[in-house]
Amino acid sequence: MSSLKKHIFICEHQRPEGKKSCGRLNGAELKKALKRKLAARGLHKTFRANSAGCLDACEHGPAMVIYPRGIWYGAVEPGDLDSIIENSLIDDRIIERLCIREKRCPLTTEIHPPGSDSDKL
Ligand code: FES
Repeated sequence: MSSLKKHIFICEHQRPEGKKSCGRLNGAELKKALKRKLAARGLHKTFRANSAGCLDACEHGPAMVIYPRGIWYGAVEPGDLDSIIENSLIDDRIIERLCIREKRCPLTTEIHPPGSDSDKL
Protein backbone atom coordinates (compact mmCIF):
# COMPACT_ATOMS: atom_id res chain seq x y z
CA MET A 1 0.00 0.00 0.00
CA SER A 2 1.33 3.41 -1.01
CA SER A 3 2.08 6.05 1.58
CA LEU A 4 1.77 8.76 -1.08
CA LYS A 5 -0.61 11.46 0.14
CA LYS A 6 -0.19 14.32 -2.29
CA HIS A 7 1.12 15.05 -5.74
CA ILE A 8 2.57 18.43 -6.62
CA PHE A 9 2.69 19.17 -10.33
CA ILE A 10 5.01 22.03 -11.24
CA CYS A 11 4.89 23.51 -14.71
CA GLU A 12 8.17 23.55 -16.59
CA HIS A 13 6.74 24.45 -19.97
CA GLN A 14 8.50 27.00 -22.13
CA ARG A 15 6.29 29.03 -24.40
CA PRO A 16 7.75 30.85 -27.41
CA GLU A 17 10.00 33.82 -26.83
CA GLY A 18 8.16 36.86 -25.57
CA LYS A 19 5.39 34.94 -23.83
CA LYS A 20 5.39 34.47 -20.10
CA SER A 21 5.86 30.87 -19.11
CA CYS A 22 6.90 28.81 -16.15
CA GLY A 23 9.88 27.29 -17.91
CA ARG A 24 11.32 30.75 -18.44
CA LEU A 25 10.62 31.57 -14.80
CA ASN A 26 12.66 28.68 -13.42
CA GLY A 27 9.84 26.16 -13.06
CA ALA A 28 12.30 23.28 -13.53
CA GLU A 29 14.61 24.62 -10.85
CA LEU A 30 11.65 25.10 -8.55
CA LYS A 31 10.65 21.44 -8.96
CA LYS A 32 14.20 20.28 -8.34
CA ALA A 33 14.44 22.43 -5.22
CA LEU A 34 11.15 21.05 -3.90
CA LYS A 35 12.27 17.48 -4.57
CA ARG A 36 15.54 18.14 -2.72
CA LYS A 37 13.71 19.62 0.26
CA LEU A 38 11.25 16.73 0.43
CA ALA A 39 14.04 14.17 0.20
CA ALA A 40 16.12 15.96 2.85
CA ARG A 41 13.19 15.67 5.25
CA GLY A 42 12.33 12.09 4.31
CA LEU A 43 9.00 13.25 2.89
CA HIS A 44 9.54 12.27 -0.75
CA LYS A 45 7.49 9.08 -0.44
CA THR A 46 4.61 10.95 1.12
CA PHE A 47 4.59 14.00 -1.15
CA ARG A 48 5.72 13.64 -4.73
CA ALA A 49 6.82 16.57 -6.88
CA ASN A 50 6.49 16.02 -10.61
CA SER A 51 7.09 18.01 -13.75
CA ALA A 52 4.07 19.21 -15.64
CA GLY A 53 3.50 20.64 -19.05
CA CYS A 54 1.51 23.81 -19.44
CA LEU A 55 -1.18 24.02 -16.78
CA ASP A 56 -2.92 26.89 -18.56
CA ALA A 57 -1.90 29.34 -15.87
CA CYS A 58 1.02 30.84 -17.79
CA GLU A 59 0.43 34.43 -16.68
CA HIS A 60 0.75 33.26 -13.06
CA GLY A 61 3.98 31.35 -13.48
CA PRO A 62 5.72 29.59 -12.11
CA ALA A 63 2.53 27.65 -11.44
CA MET A 64 1.85 24.47 -9.52
CA VAL A 65 -1.16 22.45 -8.50
CA ILE A 66 -1.37 20.19 -5.48
CA TYR A 67 -3.63 17.14 -5.66
CA PRO A 68 -5.88 15.62 -4.50
CA ARG A 69 -7.45 18.89 -3.38
CA GLY A 70 -6.52 20.92 -6.44
CA ILE A 71 -4.76 23.79 -4.76
CA TRP A 72 -3.37 26.15 -7.41
CA TYR A 73 -0.40 28.35 -6.62
CA GLY A 74 1.27 30.93 -8.83
CA ALA A 75 4.32 33.18 -8.81
CA VAL A 76 5.94 30.62 -6.55
CA GLU A 77 9.50 31.44 -5.56
CA PRO A 78 12.12 29.15 -4.03
CA GLY A 79 11.65 30.99 -0.75
CA ASP A 80 8.01 29.83 -0.65
CA LEU A 81 8.83 26.13 -0.71
CA ASP A 82 9.36 25.62 3.01
CA SER A 83 6.05 27.32 3.71
CA ILE A 84 4.30 25.18 1.09
CA ILE A 85 5.74 22.02 2.65
CA GLU A 86 4.73 23.02 6.16
CA ASN A 87 1.36 24.59 5.43
CA SER A 88 -0.06 22.95 2.34
CA LEU A 89 1.54 19.51 2.34
CA ILE A 90 1.95 18.58 5.99
CA ASP A 91 -0.83 20.70 7.52
CA ASP A 92 -3.26 20.90 4.59
CA ARG A 93 -3.62 24.68 4.76
CA ILE A 94 -3.96 27.07 1.87
CA ILE A 95 -1.49 29.92 1.52
CA GLU A 96 -3.77 32.69 0.40
CA ARG A 97 -1.15 34.98 -1.13
CA LEU A 98 -0.04 32.25 -3.56
CA CYS A 99 -3.50 31.18 -4.72
CA ILE A 100 -4.41 31.57 -8.35
CA ARG A 101 -7.93 32.89 -7.99
CA GLU A 102 -8.89 32.23 -11.60
CA LYS A 103 -8.15 28.58 -11.05
CA ARG A 104 -9.83 26.36 -8.58
CA CYS A 105 -8.28 27.26 -5.28
CA PRO A 106 -10.58 24.98 -3.35
CA LEU A 107 -13.44 26.50 -1.49
CA THR A 108 -11.98 29.96 -1.32
CA THR A 109 -14.33 30.75 1.51
CA GLU A 110 -12.19 28.40 3.59
CA ILE A 111 -9.07 30.49 3.11
CA HIS A 112 -8.03 32.17 6.30
CA PRO A 113 -4.85 33.84 7.44
CA PRO A 114 -2.36 31.39 8.93
CA GLY A 115 -2.78 31.08 12.65
CA SER A 116 -6.49 31.75 12.74
CA ASP A 117 -8.69 29.16 14.40
CA SER A 118 -10.34 28.19 11.17
CA ASP A 119 -7.35 27.97 8.87
CA LYS A 120 -7.26 24.18 9.14
CA LEU A 121 -9.12 22.56 6.32
S1 FES B 1 3.63 27.74 -19.13
FE1 FES B 1 3.21 27.15 -17.07
S2 FES B 1 1.08 27.18 -16.97
FE2 FES B 1 1.50 27.59 -19.04
